[in-house]
Amino acid sequence: MSGQRVCVSDFEEEARKVLPKAVYDYYRSGADEQRTLEDNVAAFNRWCVVPRVLRDVSTVDLSVFVLGQKLSMPLCVAATAMQRMAHPDGEVATARACRAVGTGMMLSSWATSTIEEVMSAMTSSVGPGGVLWLQLYIYKDRDLTLSLVKRAEDAGYKAVFVTVDTPYLGRRRDDMRNHFKLPRHLSMSNFSTASLAFSEGDYGNDSGLAVYAAKAIDPSLCWDDITWLKKHTRLPVIVKGVLNGDDAVQAVNYGVDGIVVSNHGARQLDGVPATLDVLEDVVRAVQGRCDVFMDGGVRRGTDILKALALGAKAVFIGRPVLWGLACQGEQGVTELLELLKEELQLAMALSGCHGVSDVTRSLVRRAAFTSRM
Ligand code: FNR
Ligand code: LAC
Repeated sequence: MSGQRVCVSDFEEEARKVLPKAVYDYYRSGADEQRTLEDNVAAFNRWCVVPRVLRDVSTVDLSVFVLGQKLSMPLCVAATAMQRMAHPDGEVATARACRAVGTGMMLSSWATSTIEEVMSAMTSSVGPGGVLWLQLYIYKDRDLTLSLVKRAEDAGYKAVFVTVDTPYLGRRRDDMRNHFKLPRHLSMSNFSTASLAFSEGDYGNDSGLAVYAAKAIDPSLCWDDITWLKKHTRLPVIVKGVLNGDDAVQAVNYGVDGIVVSNHGARQLDGVPATLDVLEDVVRAVQGRCDVFMDGGVRRGTDILKALALGAKAVFIGRPVLWGLACQGEQGVTELLELLKEELQLAMALSGCHGVSDVTRSLVRRAAFTSRM
């Protein structure tokens, strides 16, 4: 019997105990010396909330429109690959949990469940809403890439998040030491041939996933490929993995519908800024011409509040969902999302906000010193 889980780190602690070491290491790791990994979380402590009072917070409305869809809260699930390593139901359980709490899920191209089965899990379960988006890795094989997009369109996905920070996979030392690969009974379900499904085969003595990525992903990706993608889909296209204001301007000029300020959970290039620290640069550069989202290090309701105050339309979480899955499958993810929702609701009430539109820039300021808030 597990103890009561009252914060995200309780989920991680429990997950660490139940997951095989190589799986926990893969989920947890950042690149190289993991400085950015630590900084993504620490950055939230460099900001503090300056609350407003006497504003009748007897009701607080967390709902928000994201890419045309109403969600129950400005917290969504980021793409994380291979969720069936965390729990036998994997992505299917995550989709049901998102439906139960009424939020959005970005399905990884590298899911261990198919695009279609995740959609049917979401639509057949109970709950106030739930939206699915496809995270896209652009493969060297462009027909294969477009077939994923087409399948997502046909199944009813509402947007494509194209990951732009992964021409190659970052160096994750634990994965190299563990020769990380998928357990034999699993595969990347959206690919029918074994060589593309990362299930079998010899990936050498490195991180198997890094070797696979180097073979499959197109490192020649450039801005014209955004034009190419937009030409081939009617869905909104959002670029995921922007940190630089100049790139944000470029993205807008190429007609994207949104930007995710992300460093891929600090798994690509170590030494890049914490995402919260560059969020405002991007928001300023974009000047309202598209929505800006962020992910990286969000672990508390107040973290969400701070990101919204600095201009994010909504935020995403990656690892916490994997911890929820490992603890208790669908129920674990539902519990985790509800916990963060309650934390955000309380943070908004205690800072005098009735709704997300009340969360403005004046609600936060740089902390005078770095404290453990
Ligand atoms: C990821 N991320 C990711 N991103 C992506 O575009 N496609 C993917 O398949 C994956 N897979 C993946 C696996 C694991 C184990 C992790 C931890 C992350 C990055 C993810 O979408 C997101 O950007 C970060 O996870 C956000 O940071 P936090 O919330 O994990 O700190
Ligand atoms: C990762 C890939 C799957 O971060 O995006 O492991």
